[in-house]
Amino acid sequence: DDDSDTRTFWSRLDVVQETGSTNADLLARAASSDCDRHVLLAEFQGSGRGRHSRAWVSPPQAQIAVSALLTMPGMSLQDMGWLPLLTGVAVVDALRATAKVPAELKWPNDVLIDGRKVAGILAEVSATAPDPAVVVGIGLNVSLTRDELPVEHATSLVLEGAEVSDRDTLVRAVLRAIADRWRQWHDSNWDVTELAAAYRERCGTLGQRVRAELPGGRELIGIATDVDAEGRVVIAPDGQPGTVAVAAGDITHLR
Ligand code: BTN
Repeated sequence: DDDSDTRTFWSRLDVVQETGSTNADLLARAASSDCDRHVLLAEFQGSGRGRHSRAWVSPPQAQIAVSALLTMPGMSLQDMGWLPLLTGVAVVDALRATAKVPAELKWPNDVLIDGRKVAGILAEVSATAPDPAVVVGIGLNVSLTRDELPVEHATSLVLEGAEVSDRDTLVRAVLRAIADRWRQWHDSNWDVTELAAAYRERCGTLGQRVRAELPGGRELIGIATDVDAEGRVVIAPDGQPGTVAVAAGDITHLR
């Protein structure tokens, strides 16, 4: 069945009551050889990490904080860059199918419902593992109330009227979706065509007017026209000919 598929893919699932950061914990494990496909879930994180060195804060019981370690012998850094995007596709699929909410992606891998952020993903590459290894961490707001939301523009599954908000069910759905996408990508010999198409289909950034804050403090405003084969968002800047492919940075959807 679906659950046994998930169990054969993931080699270990640990649940801890409290830790600093599940991403940090799995990165610390990455140097040992038998850590491939470990999953770590924490009921509470004291120092959860977000993208761009931000903190990820969430009340206990109301969220899911889970990380997974994937090693990819022989994979190029460029291909590894698709892993956070793959994870975003998987979270969107799991939420649509299980919670029945209209989740979509904001480039690169924020998960939004109706423009508000319900989940964030942080991928970190291990500097110590013998084989290329990535930890993908997912923070999902499950039952936060309006008062508990950490920032404006955030939401939770319960606030969005999700049909299912049982955390075990949601975690299983997310892990199964990651495993499914991973296998599909593996079986295509790491061809990104299908994955990129799935990503574009779920990406609410495409066609939007956006502001991109680029590393180094530069800013770009224009229409997001595509996500290219390297996972970069392609922007047609206002008042300029041509397009710019953005590999890293923060995007805001302008309305
Ligand atoms: C973002 O900034 O949107 C990414 C947030 C990622 C949070 C998750 S919670 C589980 C894992 N452990 C961490 O310390 N961060 C990620």
